[in-house]
Amino acid sequence: MTTVDLPLLPLGRGVDPNSERGVDCPGDLPPASDPDLVARARAAKEKLGERVFVLGHHYQRDEVIQFADVTGDSFKLARDAAARPDAEYIVFCGVHFMAESADILTTDEQQVVLPDLAAGCSMADMARLQQVESAWEALEAAGIADQVVPVTYMNSSADIKAFCGRHGGVVCTSSNAETVLEWAFERGSKVMFLPDQHLGRNTAVLKLGIPLEKNVVWNPRLANGGLTAEQLQDATMILWQGHCSVHGRFSPDTVDELRAEIPGVQILVHPECQHEVVLKADLVGSTEFIIKTIAEAPAGSAWAIGTELNLVQRLANAHPDKRIVFLDRTVCYCSTMNRIDLPHLVWALESLVEGTVVNKIEVDPQTQAEATVALQRMLDLPGK
Ligand code: 13P
Ligand code: SF4
Repeated sequence: MTTVDLPLLPLGRGVDPNSERGVDCPGDLPPASDPDLVARARAAKEKLGERVFVLGHHYQRDEVIQFADVTGDSFKLARDAAARPDAEYIVFCGVHFMAESADILTTDEQQVVLPDLAAGCSMADMARLQQVESAWEALEAAGIADQVVPVTYMNSSADIKAFCGRHGGVVCTSSNAETVLEWAFERGSKVMFLPDQHLGRNTAVLKLGIPLEKNVVWNPRLANGGLTAEQLQDATMILWQGHCSVHGRFSPDTVDELRAEIPGVQILVHPECQHEVVLKADLVGSTEFIIKTIAEAPAGSAWAIGTELNLVQRLANAHPDKRIVFLDRTVCYCSTMNRIDLPHLVWALESLVEGTVVNKIEVDPQTQAEATVALQRMLDLPGK
């Protein structure tokens, strides 16, 4: 195996397999070759001044993140958006579910823009409302729905958050999943965890001490989730069969290989990684935790990081005194995060300057009200 020392590739669309564009903005998108893109983005932002607030998720490209007024994980960004009620426009450099959360948590007067509507999330797409409603009906038929509290990861669509709001459930993030699960188990004896089975399992087993065999996986493509009535009765965690296509790639073998190759390397991973990888890691935590851990690490320390590559690459560049490698043999960005590039950002900002709100993300009032219930339950938890 070849270890990938970072920085290893130039950032840019040459390595992004999904960078074809023009779907949602025909004709108006500046070409990526335009040498004035940086100046155009700067000029448009200056013209908009305080009227625009640009949010950048940690997994965004450098070319975009340089224009973010704030950076953060999905939870922090949603809160940051809510903290700027004076900003007329929120330009969300992230993916669709994050822009929806920002719309839910901001005022009706504020408009949220996602520069490329193709920036979705494959994990969020793995739990559709109709599938989740059917699963709930099956739990009702099995006579256990009244014991189950639905918990959804922030990385889910607004209608799934609304479902949780309607059914006494709650939203969690990768940084507060343990606290949220404790809250849920004070209200029910079982949790249905959506849509990321890995975050659910890792938190239940490693933080709450729930035995692995008490975690069952609900496959939405199978009758009754592929589970028997007995399995459902016996389960403590009913994990939705969803995963992140980026974090799901990291393998326990690579952990072993890197440990053999780099003496003293510490393995630092996001809880969206597979349980087998997390078990072999030294530290596990959210994107914000990963950034803080590296910032506080001593010079000369060595780290293999299992999270999205734009962030790992940025950390490697920011900390040249530490050895930072990517925990995978091959390069893999989140292709939907990478959809937001400088041409799309310029297009969105210049359109706002001209008075046109493009790619507006708007959650309908009913969904918004019910999703807010689930989000508010999380926000009301101590320290969150
Ligand atoms: P956080 O933003 O909560 O760290 O989640 C990671 C992720 O996969 C975002 O899409
Ligand atoms: Fe979705 Fe994973 Fe990409 Fe995050 S990194 S947006 S969870 S596919």
